[in-house]
Formats: sequence, C-alpha cells, structure tokens
Amino acid sequence: MRPGRVLVDEESISVRLAEMGDEITADYAGKDLLLVAVLKGAFMVVADLARHIRLPIDIDFMAVSSYGVATQTSGVVRILKDLDQEIADRHVLIVEDIIDSGLTLDYLRRNLEVRQPASLEIATLLLKRGIQRVPIDVKYVGFEIPPDFVVGYGLDLVGKMRNLPYIAVMEED
Ligand code: IMP
Ligand code: MG
Repeated sequence: MRPGRVLVDEESISVRLAEMGDEITADYAGKDLLLVAVLKGAFMVVADLARHIRLPIDIDFMAVSSYGVATQTSGVVRILKDLDQEIADRHVLIVEDIIDSGLTLDYLRRNLEVRQPASLEIATLLLKRGIQRVPIDVKYVGFEIPPDFVVGYGLDLVGKMRNLPYIAVMEED
C-alpha cells in the first residue's frame, strides 16, 4: 500500500478549516469553550482549526485506541490518556480527524456526557459517507468523503504518513 491520489489538497483543507473556525467563533461567542482533540489523529486538525477560532478557548487532549486490524475499527475503545480537566458545566467541542464507523466517537460522547458538560458537540475534518454503524450527530463537518482508507494530515497507516500536508487515498502497489 502507498499514498496515491490526493483527495483533499492543502489549500482546500486550509480554506475549509477557516470557514469552520468562523462558524465556531460565532456559535460560541461569550461561552467558555473547551476543545477536546482526540489523539493522535486530530493533532493537526486541532492546531490549524484553533488558529481560526477567535475566542479565548481552552484545549485538552484525549488519547484513545481501538482494537482491530490496521484499517478497520473494532468498536472496542481503550482510553490511553484521559482529559486533564473537569468539563462539568463547560461547553465541550470534540475535534476529530475522521468519522468512519462512528463507534469511537459514540463511545467518547457517552463517556464525556456522564461528566455533565454544559454542551457537547463534535467537529470532524472528514466524514466517510453513509457507513456509520451508529447514528452520530456531528455539528461541524469539513468534508464528506467516500469510504476509502485515507492517510495524511494526521491520519496514519500503522503510525506512518501522518505528516503529509494533504489527504490521500491509499492504493495497492
Ligand atoms: P471509527 O470508530 O470507525 O469512526 O474510526 C475512528 C478512528 O479510526 C479515527 O479516529 C481514525 O483514527 C481511524 N480511521 C478511520 N478511518 C480511517 C482512515 O481512512 N485512515 C486512517 N485512519 C482512519
Ligand atoms: Mg484517530
């Protein structure tokens, strides 16, 4: 497998994240907003998205891993690193790189909801079209993409290729 066709180029990502940042800025004006980025995949998205949010936000990180083979989610999620902060009565926006089956986010959302935030929403750069195995209510979506395996801009194939500045589809050699 190797990175092939570019699906979303650098410029398009940048333009879309700026738009999402504007929306978030308008929606959360006057509120105490905490971005919760899901490591490792969302590290690049949150770094760039946060720069387009013109509010005094806070950022925290969770690290999760889902058991399973390299390119498929099993739905069993393990928390490797929890939030440093309490989120009760705060407005929380989960920032994800990609939603595939939706199982990871479904688990995360339920895990965070128990802590009683003032609100809990989701922003994702990528959403694979029509293959969610659970209903997921996503407030901010960067791009809807076909259900192919993609890499780059934080997304990996067994740990590699996260540093590509664009999103590419994996292809057979
Ligand atoms: P889900 O639980 O199936 O929605 O998958 C969530 C996680 O699986 C994402 O946060 C990614 O880390 C990983 N993932 C899903 N699809 C892809 C992909 O196409 N490329 C790289 N990682 C992916
Ligand atoms: Mg991930």
